[in-house]
Amino acid sequence: MNTELIEIYSASDSVGIKRVAEIIRGGGIVAIPTETVYGLAANALDTSAVKKIFTAKGRPQDNPLIVHISGMDMLKPLVKAVPDNALSLANKYWPGPLTMVLERTEEIPSEVSAGLDTVAVRMPKNEVALEIIKASGVPIAAPSANLSGKPSPTTAEHCINDLNGKVDAIVVSHPSKVGVESTVISLAGPPHLLRPGAVTLEQLQAVLGAVTVDKAVLAEPEPDKPVASPGMKYKHYSPNTKVIIIEGSRDDYINYLNAKKEDGVFALCLEEEKEKLSLPYVCFGSEGDGETQAAGLFSALRELDKLGAKTAYVRLPQKQGVGLAVFNRLIRAAAFRIEKI
Ligand code: TXA
Ligand code: MG
Repeated sequence: MNTELIEIYSASDSVGIKRVAEIIRGGGIVAIPTETVYGLAANALDTSAVKKIFTAKGRPQDNPLIVHISGMDMLKPLVKAVPDNALSLANKYWPGPLTMVLERTEEIPSEVSAGLDTVAVRMPKNEVALEIIKASGVPIAAPSANLSGKPSPTTAEHCINDLNGKVDAIVVSHPSKVGVESTVISLAGPPHLLRPGAVTLEQLQAVLGAVTVDKAVLAEPEPDKPVASPGMKYKHYSPNTKVIIIEGSRDDYINYLNAKKEDGVFALCLEEEKEKLSLPYVCFGSEGDGETQAAGLFSALRELDKLGAKTAYVRLPQKQGVGLAVFNRLIRAAAFRIEKI
C-alpha cells in the first residue's frame, strides 16, 4: 500500500485536515498526532476500518481501543451514563491526556471494545487531533501508532518507521508534548487506575477521593490471571536493546556502569548523570522531573536500537506524579528486570 504523508503543522491548515477527514470517512486508517503519542485513527463506528487498525499494528484482537471525541455531545450516544465523577474529571482534564472507561452502548462495535461491556473514551488536547475529529464528524478509535510491542511513537518519523506501507496516510506534525500515553481510569465501578499518565494519581484523588491502583500498574501481571486492562498483559514498549533497571544511588549506578567493559553496553540516563559516565549513553530527561522523563523516554528507547545498543542500564525512577507513568513504562520496557546493587 502507498502511504500518503500529509504535513499538518497547524490546526488552521484546513486543506490537510480535510484530506485526513476524507480518508477516515472513507474507511481508511491514518496516523495522527496527539499530545500524548501519535495515534492510528479510524472511524470508531466502521467495523471494517477498525479491523484494519488491528492488522496494521499486529495487535491482539482482545485488546480494546480508545475512542476519541471532540466534544461532550459526541460522548452521549457512546455510553450508558456519564456519572458525576466522570463529569467532574471531564470538566477539569478534558481536553487532555485522560481516558475514562465507562459502560458502553450498542453504538460501539464489539471490535472496538474487544467484547467488553465498557468503552474507553478520551478528548485529546492537541489542536490538530481535535480538528481532525471535528472534520471527520465521527468518534475516532485510535491506539498508539506503533507496531504492537514497540515503544509508542512520539514523532511522525517513529510512525513512518513502523507503519509506512501498512496505513493509508501518516500526518507529519510536531513531536508529542507529553510523550507517554494517556492516564486510563475506570469509572464503570469505584474509581480504579488502569494506566498512569500525565494526569497523575494525586490529581485524580484530589477530584475523586479514593482511587484504587490496578496491580498491573506496579508489577508484572500473573500469567493466566484476568487483567482489568487487557493492554497491560502484553509485551510492551520493548526495544531490541535489553533494558535493565538498576536500584541504587546515583553514585553506585555510575560506578557500576563505568566498571562494565563489554561492547554494546549503554546507559539510559538522566541529564545529571551523563557527565560522569565513561560509556556510551542516551539521555531521556532530568532527575526528579517526571515530565521531561515522560517526554523523552520512548524516543530514547528507539534511539538505543538505532545505535545498536545490546544492553542499556537505567536507574529505577521515582513513583510520584508523572514519575509513576515513567516507572510503569520502564518496568515493561525492561521486561520487569530489576537489579539491586
Ligand atoms: O494517549 C493515548 O491513550 C493514546 C493516544 C493515541 O490517544 N492511545 C493509546 O491507545 O495509548 P492504546 O490502544 O495503545 O492503549 C489503550 C489502553 C490499552 O491498555 C487497553 O487495553 C486499554 O487502554 N483499554 C481500552 N479500552 C478499555 C476498556 N474498555 N477497559 C479497560 N481497558 C481498556
Ligand atoms: Mg499502545
